Amino acid sequence: MHHNPKPLRFAIFASGKGSNARVLMQSFSSRFIPADLVCVLSNIAEAGVLQIAREQSYKTALLEHRGKTREQHEKELLALLHEHRVDHILLAGYMRILSPFFLQNWHGNILNIHPALLPDFPGLHAAEKQWESHRTVAGATVHFVDQGVDTGPILLQGSMLTNEGESFEVFMQRLQTEVEHVIYPRAVRLFIDRLATKEV
Ligand code: GRF
Repeated sequence: MHHNPKPLRFAIFASGKGSNARVLMQSFSSRFIPADLVCVLSNIAEAGVLQIAREQSYKTALLEHRGKTREQHEKELLALLHEHRVDHILLAGYMRILSPFFLQNWHGNILNIHPALLPDFPGLHAAEKQWESHRTVAGATVHFVDQGVDTGPILLQGSMLTNEGESFEVFMQRLQTEVEHVIYPRAVRLFIDRLATKEV
């Protein structure tokens, strides 16, 4: 297999507590993901993810969206990505839609994790909807980002059996630790392997 001598450069975008971002950071640090994580970005000053990134000695960036137009905010994001020479973006609970303006030059280079087995339950509150559906199997999806909401091609999915009578809190905790945190690093590795074989 052909190995790219220049490591690929990734950024993580996240808006929340950052548990997926944390396992991704750990996977970059251990080289389970054989690439460089060059920036962890948030649009929310208080987001737990920024604290986690600082603890793990990753470069952080705060670009707030408040008080800016979407295009203005996205121009700042693009400038930051350019400055850090980012090749690929990992969305991990990034709660902003990326517009066609932003996406035009990033096609096939942005991954997202969604807390449901797409195409079922796209959009907001997907984990709650899964839990309320009382299906016997629940899961999460890592997919490429396109212009729709959770509509891009699926890269990897993981599932778990649900337990009858399980509270939403327990369900969500399991969905994250047993599914999301397992599949996201693996999906990124798979993505890198695919890029490598394409380059041969
Ligand atoms: C995850 O459930 C992910 O599927 C969704 O946002 C959540 C982020 O959680 N897109 P965390 O901040 O990584 O804990």
